[in-house]
Parts: sequence; C-alpha cells; structure tokens
Amino acid sequence: MADSYKAIFEHNKEWVEAKLSDNPNYFHELAKTQHPEYLYIGCSDSRVTAEDMMGAQPGDVFVHRNIANVINTLDMSSTAVIQYAVEHLKVKHIIVCGHYNCGGVKAAMTSQDLGLLNPWLRNIRDVYRLHQKELDAIQEEARRYDRLVELNVQEQCINVIKMACVQERYILEEQPVVHGWVFDLRSGKIIDLEIDFENILKDIQKIYNLTDSDWVMSRKK
Ligand code: CO
Repeated sequence: MADSYKAIFEHNKEWVEAKLSDNPNYFHELAKTQHPEYLYIGCSDSRVTAEDMMGAQPGDVFVHRNIANVINTLDMSSTAVIQYAVEHLKVKHIIVCGHYNCGGVKAAMTSQDLGLLNPWLRNIRDVYRLHQKELDAIQEEARRYDRLVELNVQEQCINVIKMACVQERYILEEQPVVHGWVFDLRSGKIIDLEIDFENILKDIQKIYNLTDSDWVMSRKK
C-alpha cells in the first residue's frame, strides 16, 4: 500500500522528465491557457479513463466524471461544468460516455436500499421506467443490462441538450454537438451510439425550449 502510493511520485517524476525531454517548454506552455475542443462526461469507474482511451493529451479534453455519467439539473457540479465548457471554453463537442459493466447502472437495476446512493441512482431508475417496455422484453439479463447502459447515455445526452446554454450556443454557432458513446470494457473499443442530435434538439424544443432564437440572433455580432 505505502509502496504503491510512493510509486505515484516516482511515476510523476518520470512523466515530467519524458515531457521535458520532448519539449523543454512543455509545462511553461501548458500553464498559459486551455482551449479544449471536447467536454467529456463519463463514469467515475477506475477502468474508464477518458484521456487514455481517447489518446488525448493534457489540454485536449475538459472532463467531468460521476457515478454512471448522470446529468441532472439539480446537480450544481455537472451543470456548472457544462455551462463553463459551453460558454467560456466554447467546446465544439460534448461527449456523454457510459460503459458496459457499469456498477452504478447495475445497482439501479436491483431492488435494494442503497442509502445515500438512492437519490442519485433514481435518475437511472427513471431511465428504466421511460424505456420499461423495451427493457422488460429483453429476456437475457446481461443484454438488458447492456441496453440500459446505452439508454442511460441517450437520456443523459437529452438532459445535456435540454440546457439553455447548449441550445443558445447551438443557435448561434451550430455547436457544440452532443455525442453519446459507450466504452466496451470487454474489447477496449469506443462505440458511438450515433444519437440523432439535430432531431433530438428539434423534438425537445417543443417542450424544453429555453431560448428565443430571434432574441439570440439579435445579440449576434
Ligand atoms: Co460506471
């Protein structure tokens, strides 16, 4: 335990040396500013490492992770991240990434009292309720579990698209585009669920429209 903790600082030292040997100004440049094109919202699961699996470098991706990649308007943390990424960093893409074998999704499929986790996992139980017909029709439990992971990503993408800042900036600049991914731990591959962003946006604007597009356009310089 103590050794593996100590090893972190050894690895850090090696990492610094490797970066500096490539570019002696690396950290000087890194410290200046950030212009990430991507906001990645994923699960806290230790096996799903955003930058690693995307081959991304420091500065490439703005990251938010929580249990089972849930976006809820009452959660200040995730909504503040999205707001900042959209309005200030002006990211071009927002990725919601779930993963198969997700413990949070699994827990939400069981009928046990999970204490403090109950209200958080309620978000996923709501996804189940929205898609109950489809999910209950899947005989094999493992397949049903995989499908709930996918549907959870889809619904969390919709929650992102519901946000006023996303709608507003999309009217102005046709970005950010929201993408739904599933990381398959069993193969290491990223699967793009190819959610129909344009149509979801059009559909939800019937109910969740938070922007007057004429007003937004009138502010465009
Ligand atoms: Co997970």
